[in-house]
Amino acid sequence: MESTKTAKVITVVGARPNFMKAAPIITAIRRHNACLTSPERTIPGPRQVAIQSVLVHTGQHYDEAMSERFFTDLGIPTPDVHLGAGSGTHAAQTAEIMKRFEDVLLRERPDLLIVVGDVNSTLACALVAAKISYDSHGARPLIAHVEAGLRSFDRSMPEEVNRILTDHLADLMFVTEESGLQNLREEGIPDHKIHFVGNTMIDSLFAFRHKARLSSILDTLGLRRSDSASRSNNGATRYALLTLHRPSNVDQRESFVNILDGLEELVNSCPVIFPVHPRTQKRIADFGLERFFSRQRLCDNGVKPVPTGAEGRICLVDPLGYIDFLCLLEHAAVVVTDSGGIQEETTLLGVPCVTVRDNTERPITIKAGTNVLAGTTTDGIRRAARQQLESKTVGKVPEAWDGKSAERILEVICRELGKRFTETLF
Ligand code: UD1
Repeated sequence: MESTKTAKVITVVGARPNFMKAAPIITAIRRHNACLTSPERTIPGPRQVAIQSVLVHTGQHYDEAMSERFFTDLGIPTPDVHLGAGSGTHAAQTAEIMKRFEDVLLRERPDLLIVVGDVNSTLACALVAAKISYDSHGARPLIAHVEAGLRSFDRSMPEEVNRILTDHLADLMFVTEESGLQNLREEGIPDHKIHFVGNTMIDSLFAFRHKARLSSILDTLGLRRSDSASRSNNGATRYALLTLHRPSNVDQRESFVNILDGLEELVNSCPVIFPVHPRTQKRIADFGLERFFSRQRLCDNGVKPVPTGAEGRICLVDPLGYIDFLCLLEHAAVVVTDSGGIQEETTLLGVPCVTVRDNTERPITIKAGTNVLAGTTTDGIRRAARQQLESKTVGKVPEAWDGKSAERILEVICRELGKRFTETLF
């Protein structure tokens, strides 16, 4: 029998949308190692690589509600290294992460680096790894990008710049949807670097969907019917869920007000629950937009606010954890968002989604039938919200969104690390 080699793998997380994408990979690594040491181990040759996993948190998001809560909800272990980089301009934040991450790479000397998604932490760490040199031969870690190939073709989005650059620095690209394959090929990336594996964020959704259904958030927000006769949709009342945080939507008063005006009809037809991102919360105060909102504080002792009591106003709540948010997503009549990931989660759940943007880097969500692009004008949003509120489309689940993406990623990673050991590049 071949002997087992141990490779060191660093996984980087930094901001909220990273956590649900990385969690299944960390779990898959744990399972893989457990299989290797199991007496009934049956793993064939290429997977005879044990993995020493090191988790690095850049600290891009640092509030309890934006970070720690997700570690608890998703069962992610405490990071081995916390860079504490924090907020700043794009340049300052990216540079700070890079400086701090370089020391970690030189100290840990991993064989492989995993970065996920498209946030500043993703690019910053990939860029450091691409230029690092462990020795005089220029040895460096392999770079794996999870959620590669997505393109909005809108370079004014910081995430688009992060996506393109990270892909072109990566050695292994893990793609979630067909468009990603096509985009990477058109950009000249060789096929052997590209792996279509599905979506690890959907792995998390599968893993926690059952737990989310047991969340008490519907009761806390007064969104559960009192008549026990109605058991459909887990007893949830008809409500809409809103998220908005994209700088292009909330950083200019006029754009923000146009969007809120576009939601007026929706707000008058059902409760609209808005877990508010810190950036957006600040803008509401800066621009004096409080008249659009009522506020519900979610207390530990379980206050039971009834959002329908605040007719005509959007119900603001603090940012929610993963489990409570997933519960609200699954039972919503319609979701209005400018997030990337939520477009995908609603597709899997078959919930109608209105995307408050002119483009999407996730065209599969439109093709599947659950998502529509509303643009950012008042009229466009009003029309799309009306259409989606009436929608009966269940949607089509995209290929390989089956809860097994992290396993596929691990298979590829182990094979590539096995090859590296054979070639004795290190
Ligand atoms: C980042 C990602 C975006 C992702 C979003 C999810 C980039 C370029 N953008 O945007 O793709 O959709 O996360 O949330 O990486 N803040 C806090 N507490 C926190 C974190 C942030 O108060 O824990 C505030 C700070 O004032 C900060 C602002 O939010 O300046 C923005 O945070 P930042 O990480 O720069 O970008 P996001 O808008 O969160």
